[in-house]
Amino acid sequence: MSQFRLTRTLPEDATDAALRADVLAGLTSTPKWLPPKWFYDARGSELFEAITALPEYYPTRAEREILVDRAGEIAAATGARTLVELGSGSSEKTRVLLDALTERNGLRGYVPVDVSESALVQAGQALVAERPGLQVHALIADFTGGLTLPDTPGPRLVAFLGGTIGNLLPGERAEFLASVRSLLSPGDTLLLGTDLVKDEGVLVRAYDDAAGVTGEFNKNVLSVVNRELEADFAPAAFEHVALWNAEREWIEMRLRSRTAQAVKIQALDLAVDFADGEELRTEVSAKFRREGVRAELAAAGLDLAHWWTDGGDRFALSLSVAR
Ligand SMILES: C[S@@+](CC[C@H](N)C(=O)[O-])C[C@H]1O[C@@H](n2cnc3c(N)ncnc32)[C@H](O)[C@@H]1O
Repeated sequence: MSQFRLTRTLPEDATDAALRADVLAGLTSTPKWLPPKWFYDARGSELFEAITALPEYYPTRAEREILVDRAGEIAAATGARTLVELGSGSSEKTRVLLDALTERNGLRGYVPVDVSESALVQAGQALVAERPGLQVHALIADFTGGLTLPDTPGPRLVAFLGGTIGNLLPGERAEFLASVRSLLSPGDTLLLGTDLVKDEGVLVRAYDDAAGVTGEFNKNVLSVVNRELEADFAPAAFEHVALWNAEREWIEMRLRSRTAQAVKIQALDLAVDFADGEELRTEVSAKFRREGVRAELAAAGLDLAHWWTDGGDRFALSLSVAR
């Protein structure tokens, strides 16, 4: 019998201390910033799914291509009987991996971890309905916050797909990879999706699509702050900006104020001034090279065992093992 369980390790709504602290720190800094995890309320998760289908947004298709080509190899190399997925979202591509792990290894459990409750519930319920015998234990949790995983049969494969690791700054990535390493027992593995450095035009278009879906996703963080912290951001008073930072090799998404304006955030008793043209950074999305990924994994005590790319060398999946 399949079973879906949901465990919450975050407070009921997003008005928790973490959102307050991030908004206070980010909007009183120069330059201003907000962390990308606050994009993902139910509407933000829907918008991200719409992004994955855009003609300009190649990463999802490229990563799916690698998974389709390599899922059997991944199942054989890992022997995994539990799949843990960080930032699982809709778990759409994951189905390819679940099929291979079930067929080859008799997969027992799937543990999706996400901040988005709506995404976890939708994906988890669909998966147990589709797959007799699969135990889905979803965790509403922040993957940067020191996870405790449920007791599930080993070996475990921890997957972190979608290039989401690129949303962490380099110091945060080092801390995150070390914390993932500490979750692994001997024989467990990490499957990591990383978007690769490529032509600037291709990269910028992936974050600034013609239909404006990414712009709407970007502005969704303002709606989250409005709702959760009683703020009065007017999303139309900000312009979506995506640019390539060649030195850091990352895409930055920003919101540029179209005018000089003051925004009130009642729950923090805070007024925030924006100058005409002032920008608020909402996301970085780092792009990687093989050597850099290998070095970052090694620094966390993980040895790169496999490196697979799509036919266009746009995206990579790496499999690493705990040293
Ligand atoms: C870029 S999307 C990728 C979704 C999916 N893995 C894919 O490949 O299409 C990032 C996902 O991570 C989740 N997320 C972002 N920050 C998070 C955090 N700090 N802790 C847990 N989940 C987070 C979001 O809700 C979203 O589902």
